[in-house]
Amino acid sequence: DKGLHRLPDHPLGILKNVIENYFCEVDPSVSFTVMDDLSPIVSTYANFDSVLVPADHVSRSANDTYYVTKGSVLRCHTSAHQLELLKHGHKRFLVTGDVYRRDTIDATHFPVFHQVEGVRVFEPHEWESQNLSSLELASTELKTTLEGLVRHLFGECEMRWVDAYFPFTEPSYELEIFFKGEWLEVLGCGVMQSSILDAAELDGHRAWAFGLGLERLAMILFDIPDIRLFWTPDPRFSQQFKSGMFRAGGVGMKKFSSYSKYPPCYKDVSFWLPQDKNFTENSLCELVRSIAGTLVEEVKLIDEFENKKLKRTSHCYRFTYRSMERSLTDDEVNEIQNEVRQRLETDLHVVLR
Ligand code: PHE
Repeated sequence: DKGLHRLPDHPLGILKNVIENYFCEVDPSVSFTVMDDLSPIVSTYANFDSVLVPADHVSRSANDTYYVTKGSVLRCHTSAHQLELLKHGHKRFLVTGDVYRRDTIDATHFPVFHQVEGVRVFEPHEWESQNLSSLELASTELKTTLEGLVRHLFGECEMRWVDAYFPFTEPSYELEIFFKGEWLEVLGCGVMQSSILDAAELDGHRAWAFGLGLERLAMILFDIPDIRLFWTPDPRFSQQFKSGMFRAGGVGMKKFSSYSKYPPCYKDVSFWLPQDKNFTENSLCELVRSIAGTLVEEVKLIDEFENKKLKRTSHCYRFTYRSMERSLTDDEVNEIQNEVRQRLETDLHVVLR
């Protein structure tokens, strides 16, 4: 309920506005409807089935997605809204919102992050008047529009299109840019599967769609080193950002300057995995997050071995605890770590060593 993407002076809000402006400026005669307040709790139908995610796809598992009830989840992507918005008659829209995934713990992963989704539907007369096939028009326009978006965000830069797979688009691509010496994936996109348009009673139309993660791009463009910073109430963070400050590629823009990092505290824990092998790193991370919140910086597997005779596997994890705002005391880290150790046994059924 923080709605970081709706705060105009927050880096996520700044970036969202820059993206929305691009879609309003690119061709003012075709305006995009902008939505940023749709509920993140959606049906499993919307999150998966409506965008053709196969019944056995890993993203459906409770290890990857947060289930609210059997039939509803915290959306794992903003694509969950595609079909419903099309059904409501929207032909060009941008949806920004918080999305949720169970995942690893490190500087670029957090269980909640933000995506922008864009969809553009074409009418038959648009390709007929240009003597193009619908697929040609949709894929060319998709590519020029998104290359323009990338220049709007990163300035002139080298780009490449990489073939990708999403169940809801065909063909599917990722757009990568060469930035500060490495290739970075910026967004996923493609030509929407016709069956989605059919389901929205838009048979005979064509559409493209794209999705991008705001944190990744904001971390690159503003030089923000740790994803937890987006959530800090510390004014030393928030005072460095102001709507209107953005410059393409960060050129001539004041970047984020880190305030002193507080010391980390490392805790290692070794345990035997449960013998039914029903253990995943995501559930370990979820457990640590639920106890430590933003005080955990990284969870890393540092050793693993199998005792062939006993047929048991042992894992050793290193937890890095560090606050973005202050020094942690030994007592409070020990308290967190003790609870983690207990819950590892009671909830994840491992045997501590
Ligand atoms: N929903 C996809 C993701 O989260 C991104 C995407 C959106 C890809 C729209 C293609 C079209 O990775």
